[in-house]
Amino acid sequence: MHEISQKLYKAVVLVCENRRDDGRKSCGVTEPGLRIAIKEAMKSAGLSVRVLSTSCMDHCKDGPTVSFMPMDVMFGDVHIDDVPELVTKMNVYLSS
Ligand code: FES
Repeated sequence: MHEISQKLYKAVVLVCENRRDDGRKSCGVTEPGLRIAIKEAMKSAGLSVRVLSTSCMDHCKDGPTVSFMPMDVMFGDVHIDDVPELVTKMNVYLSS
């Protein structure tokens, strides 16, 4: 194993896309398409961020969930209508 320098992006956005078919709440079922909407909006805003799909982040009842790293901040009940606000928040974090 060896370390790889991660200098390509200033931040990573984790979007829970966990899907359960047993009736329990899961982010990927509640708001499909959220990750793609965030990815396109961040790219359009020219932000140096990587938007990745993740599985359950253990906040299912608050989902759909999105996390900004390394800011270590999480957002719950995120819907596609919230994407512009996420872009604004990311801009603030990256400029501070
Ligand atoms: S299913 Fe998304 S946080 Fe658990």
